[in-house]
Amino acid sequence: MAAARRALLEVLKGATLSPPPVWLMRQAGRYLPEYRETRAKAGSFLSLCYSPDLATEVTLQPIRRYGFDAAILFSDILVIPDALKRNVHFVEGSGPRMDPIEEAGIFALEQAGVLDHLTPVMQAVRQIRAALPDETTLLGFCGAPWTVATYMIAGHGTSDQAPARLFGYRQPEAFAHLLAVLAELSADYLVAQIDAGADAVQIFDSWAGVLGEAEFETYAIEPVARIIRSVKARRPQARIIAFAKGAGMNLRHYRQKTGADMIGLDWSVPLSFAAELQKDGPVQGNLDPMRVVAGGAALDEGVDRILEALGQGPLVFNLGHGITPDADPQHVTRLVDRVRGVRNGG
Ligand code: CP3
Repeated sequence: MAAARRALLEVLKGATLSPPPVWLMRQAGRYLPEYRETRAKAGSFLSLCYSPDLATEVTLQPIRRYGFDAAILFSDILVIPDALKRNVHFVEGSGPRMDPIEEAGIFALEQAGVLDHLTPVMQAVRQIRAALPDETTLLGFCGAPWTVATYMIAGHGTSDQAPARLFGYRQPEAFAHLLAVLAELSADYLVAQIDAGADAVQIFDSWAGVLGEAEFETYAIEPVARIIRSVKARRPQARIIAFAKGAGMNLRHYRQKTGADMIGLDWSVPLSFAAELQKDGPVQGNLDPMRVVAGGAALDEGVDRILEALGQGPLVFNLGHGITPDADPQHVTRLVDRVRGVRNGG
């Protein structure tokens, strides 16, 4: 089969494209009426994640509407703790919940059976790849061990991940074991997604920004480097994006130390620093999701600034974090048009 030219994959390999490929984190989500409809049909959020047909449908919705250059598998980073039997559930309006894990639970974690539990996800990947236009890149993903661990320790989301930080200081051996287990499982999971048809994968470290320098090294860099080494040892062609939200100056050596092909940037990363990081390889980002909610000039100016600062090098246009449920779907049309050089009035 002749390989289609997939713009995002080209950039991952180092190409500069004008216009740059564009997709948005959380592009399948509650801001879309068609997502809300499918979500209601599924019942629980996890049944949506584990139904290959429905997961395929919601993955494709934003591609049909906007023609993004990449689709991202519809799932969640917390399917790994779910597969580890942590009793994961999503409470409407208040986010994820699970049984908080303690030292004994960490050393008792059973890795066997985790990938079996996730076979519906791999089935979804196969169906999505088969249904996507040839030129659309399919991204798989997982959570980074640190970010997944923060939810496992606290049992829910927190504003600063104090429970996991504290746990790491008080019980360093148990915490290191937890990160190692998650890294190993995540590597196996990414390899399975790649084998099912994902063109590239992204590792989400959404809580990297609460870590001090030393902890960034041991909790954020080492486990992600371990995942990337393991995936690339088994699938040398694998392309990997690493997104460490809020990492600031710690991003300076993040690409080199983790082995990521492309690094994701949140909107707090100054564009001058982003341009420095781009000298070492492709970058992805970094529009403030609130500019998409605001629309109009705030949206246009934000897009233009990124294109001006980073458009001459390898760039994947994205937000600096996920699109929020209050975003107007028409603002997304405006964003995509603007990135692709279509000028709208007003
Ligand atoms: O990007 C995509 O379109 C693919 C799907 C995707 C989801 N979650 C769907 C989802 C991806 C890549 C994720 C990753 C994820 N999940 C992260 C890392 C990225 C980030 O946003 O920081 C994290 C930390 C989670 C954990 C998680 N899942 C939380 C904290 C929540 C609740 C917050 C919220 O927005 O409701 C979820 C639920 C979730 N995951 C939803 C979606 C569309 C909303 C739930 C619903 O529809 O009822």
